[in-house]
Amino acid sequence: MKNKTFLKIIQPDDWHVHLREGDMMKVVTKFSSRINNRCVVMPNLETPITNSYLARQYKENLSLITAGLNFTTLLPCYLIDSLDLNDFKLALKKGIFVGAKLYPINATTNSSFGISKIDNIFSALEILEELGKPLLVHGEKVREDINMFDREKYFIDEELQIIRNRYPSLKIILEHVSSEYGTDFVNENKNTAGTITPHHMMLTKKDFFYENSINPHHFCMPVVKEESDLIALRKCACSGNKKFFLGTDSAPHHVNFKLPNMSSRAGIFSSPCSIELYVTIFEEEDSLDNLESFSSYNGPIFYELPINTEHIALTKETWVVPEYTIENNVKIRNFLGGKELNWKVI
Ligand code: DOR
Ligand code: ZN
Repeated sequence: MKNKTFLKIIQPDDWHVHLREGDMMKVVTKFSSRINNRCVVMPNLETPITNSYLARQYKENLSLITAGLNFTTLLPCYLIDSLDLNDFKLALKKGIFVGAKLYPINATTNSSFGISKIDNIFSALEILEELGKPLLVHGEKVREDINMFDREKYFIDEELQIIRNRYPSLKIILEHVSSEYGTDFVNENKNTAGTITPHHMMLTKKDFFYENSINPHHFCMPVVKEESDLIALRKCACSGNKKFFLGTDSAPHHVNFKLPNMSSRAGIFSSPCSIELYVTIFEEEDSLDNLESFSSYNGPIFYELPINTEHIALTKETWVVPEYTIENNVKIRNFLGGKELNWKVI
């Protein structure tokens, strides 16, 4: 299997990506629509998408860019403490929202409107469970005494396990699983799935810290962790495990916001080469046969959506990822910019 030079797979979907708004949205969306049929687009805009009115507006803006393309965006509702439950329920029923996203307060970019106490969203979770719609979770507990590398573990133990036990039929997706502890949680619980990014399967904390500083282009939330975590993630993604699927968490920021210290914005922009990175990882793990399950089957099955019918093809051909994406007023550092990759989409 290692000697393959050509791959044809059912068109993938990206179950977790940030397409942003304004000029940034115009620039980054084409990288996602180049490959994917569907994208779950994160609602953590500067004004978070917390109701159907904002959702319609955002979808309209997106559709101006994607008109004519074979590309669908799915949007989860950004949960807030004071959610309008009637609006939420109706919007889920109408398909305006595909599910809901739980951001713990101040855990990541634009999460200051996030949830301060999980009890505040119990009614929303009941609605999701009743309608069979998924809860997407940014699983990090932020507290002064909790080390950044342990946030996922603490969130699972102190919050997610409570939700899991209280709503046994609720579909839960632990987004961008980043630790072995996280993969264990997904594996051990029913109705629970996880998305895995390429960067969490390629980087460890050694790549994040360098020369008494941090590398802001390897800074994301949750932060990349130990070698043992990377190995656990690779195992779950590459083994054909149906609980895990593709979610890049490609999260662009203008280079001016990427600083070599902890006030940098968190987010890694991988969409210019994300499928090529996944292929590289699956090839390294001698698991190319399982790629399609991860990229094109497991996600739609968990979301109860149809499997795509089109295909994409990749060939073994060397190319260099451009260092930056520069267009209009936007300048973004591409993940692995300047590095050679061995697979290319045809
Ligand atoms: O690194 C991240 N960046 N993690 C997130 O959860 C949010 C994202 C962003 O929006 O920048
Ligand atoms: Zn994200």
